Amino acid sequence: MQSDGSISQAVYQAQTRLTSLSSHLRTSKSKIVVCRDLGPDVMPLLTKRDDIEVITWTEDCVCDREWLLKNISGAVGIVIVFSELVNAELLDAAGPNLKVVSTMSVGYEHIHVSELAKRNVRLGYTPDVLTDAVADISVMLALMAGRNANETMGIVREGLWPKFIWAPFALCGPQLSTSGISPSRTVGFLGFGRISHATLARLIPFGVTDCIYSSNPNSAASPKKERDEALLKQYRPQLKSLRPVDRDTLARESDVLFILAPGGPSTRHLIDEDFLRKMKKHSVLVNAGRGTVVDSDALAKALREKWIWGAGIDVVEGEPNIWKDHPLIREPRCNILPHIGSASFETRLAMATLAVENCLAGIVGQNMPAELDVKAS
Ligand code: DGY
Repeated sequence: MQSDGSISQAVYQAQTRLTSLSSHLRTSKSKIVVCRDLGPDVMPLLTKRDDIEVITWTEDCVCDREWLLKNISGAVGIVIVFSELVNAELLDAAGPNLKVVSTMSVGYEHIHVSELAKRNVRLGYTPDVLTDAVADISVMLALMAGRNANETMGIVREGLWPKFIWAPFALCGPQLSTSGISPSRTVGFLGFGRISHATLARLIPFGVTDCIYSSNPNSAASPKKERDEALLKQYRPQLKSLRPVDRDTLARESDVLFILAPGGPSTRHLIDEDFLRKMKKHSVLVNAGRGTVVDSDALAKALREKWIWGAGIDVVEGEPNIWKDHPLIREPRCNILPHIGSASFETRLAMATLAVENCLAGIVGQNMPAELDVKAS
């Protein structure tokens, strides 16, 4: 039998051993940093696992850079959204354990892909799952822009409805659906990938008769004869033609132009003053791709000087720093949404789940459900 003193000594030693063992177990877990709370359905995919230490930025706002640089050290994976810049600084702070960057977005302009390639870090992203949500909102923006939603809702919001005298042609706009007196409609697409195809499918019941597009010849959306013939066959007899065109023709012939191209230097300001001046006076421009594709000053001028009818945009260059005095906000015919293209419950849940699945697969070297080949990009 030990004396009281030796018992407390033994307890003390056992406690010290346990503390050191649990700290060893803690540190031997794989660390994953998650830059936004992904909600009660998705976070448990990470937090319920006992082989992973999850460090989460829990605020519902952009992850603090200093916090991230400090916490990323030693991580094997990081789950981000498109407000986190992934560059050499962040990757160096992470160190050599980092295996995966997983972004909850289809776009990846916020990621310096070549820096990932140099370090053999894999990249997960979330294509496909947001296609329908963005196609839905593209059609919504086309309707809003054609039928003056911003301007007319402003009348209601500002209490001016009582003063508004209903008149036969007051507040009219061009109709998206074809009609007896307007039997043809040409829709144009800048970028002709999955989201454009899904948008076209939604437009067929509106009576769209012709589809033209212009896309990057080196991308998956590049012109493809067989694919185009199959699409045309699918939508005949309603759709009479579907063809790739140069940008000049895209500007001149589109009644509604959908910009669904990725961002980055190669597409910056493809829609500029020159392009806008060629568009039809009653045409509508929709941008649900990336803000940088459109020169905002040129678009504001086009709306102010009525070169085109209206615009519906979900993205603006320089977002989210778009204040009330932004030239586009001052244009009543500009219908602006704050980048909510993928913001449906269903889609965000699917994106968050896919981002976590990509990360978990990537850290153990398995096939990721949606991986971008960083060496080829
Ligand atoms: C994306 O995923 O890149 C979207 O723009 C965010 O909705």
